[in-house]
Amino acid sequence: MVKKIRASVPAKVILFGEHFVVYGKRALATAINRRLAVEVSSREKEGYHVKIENIPTFGLEMDLEHKKEGNIKALPYKDYDAVTKATAYVKESIVYLEERYGIGGEGVEIEIKSEIPLSAGLGSSAATCVATIAALKEYFGVSGDLEGIRNDAHHVEKAVQGAASPVDTAISTYGGYVLVEKGEVKRLHLPELDLIVGCIGSIPLSMDTKKASEMGLKTKRIVEEVKVRKESFKEIFDSIFDASDAITAQALNAIENCDFVKLGALMNINHGLLDAIGVVPRRLSELVKMSQGSGALGAKVTGAGGLDEMGSVGSVLVLPGESVDRIKATMEIAGAFVMDVKTGEEGLKVANTY
Ligand code: PMV
Repeated sequence: MVKKIRASVPAKVILFGEHFVVYGKRALATAINRRLAVEVSSREKEGYHVKIENIPTFGLEMDLEHKKEGNIKALPYKDYDAVTKATAYVKESIVYLEERYGIGGEGVEIEIKSEIPLSAGLGSSAATCVATIAALKEYFGVSGDLEGIRNDAHHVEKAVQGAASPVDTAISTYGGYVLVEKGEVKRLHLPELDLIVGCIGSIPLSMDTKKASEMGLKTKRIVEEVKVRKESFKEIFDSIFDASDAITAQALNAIENCDFVKLGALMNINHGLLDAIGVVPRRLSELVKMSQGSGALGAKVTGAGGLDEMGSVGSVLVLPGESVDRIKATMEIAGAFVMDVKTGEEGLKVANTY
């Protein structure tokens, strides 16, 4: 029987504190019940063959062959780095594991199936890193624990993006809820929430290929823009950042006490702060306003946010209260890909079939 390893991980949403967490403020994130799976098996031909399918609005298949003595970076695909976000993370995972643990030397088939929209702030990059690393480590018999996988994945994410907080890789690995404070990751047990996520996931037809490929590094660009604004308006931004920290602290309390009215109000305030630091493009702003107007207890951008010139691609998180159907219909009319999600999903699962 063919040896096959399957690693699957959850998507994430940041409930509170995105962007502010980059500067040491608290952020609360949770895993949601949308998963990405990586299957690793052998193939006769040397090199890596990667097949990515089922990612909403996106799919591709390509050969990632490389010469044994050569560097995997010197691939025949000139635009390899720019092809997609997903392949950049797969490639970097392979390079990292080959250098760190000496894996490789045989033909490997990597198949990725995902329910996580790309570039939408739902942790698809971290999910790709964690699942690829976990599956390849298991396949090549590299021993280690969850902590090791999380560290490897965080390293790879930083190598691709230049900077990344540990939030996404922690959630993909551990699942559940995670609080990040001053770079430290703390796992929390909190009650499950029913939420709605609305994604603006389509790339406008007017967008050129260069811009479309830059989409994979959207988070990096937005984080850099926030940094520039923060330097220009230091005192004002310091107060906004402190306010976000206080919101996260109160939100933790509201979730523990199942106080959904307070939780929703805190989401709305958090959204206002994200708008203030300039990460809310028009279409995501509309989604938030329309959800709030349709009876949501709270709504906010989740993740990095978006840019108008990149078609507002990104996601909005909604605490619906009683008006679930009305809110979903409104969001769909506004052009969003809408998902019902539950928080606290299980983390990394690795299955071994021979
Ligand atoms: O949109 P995402 O999933 O890449 O989330 C980014 C969250 C930020 O706080 C903006 C950056 C980070 O590394 O925490």
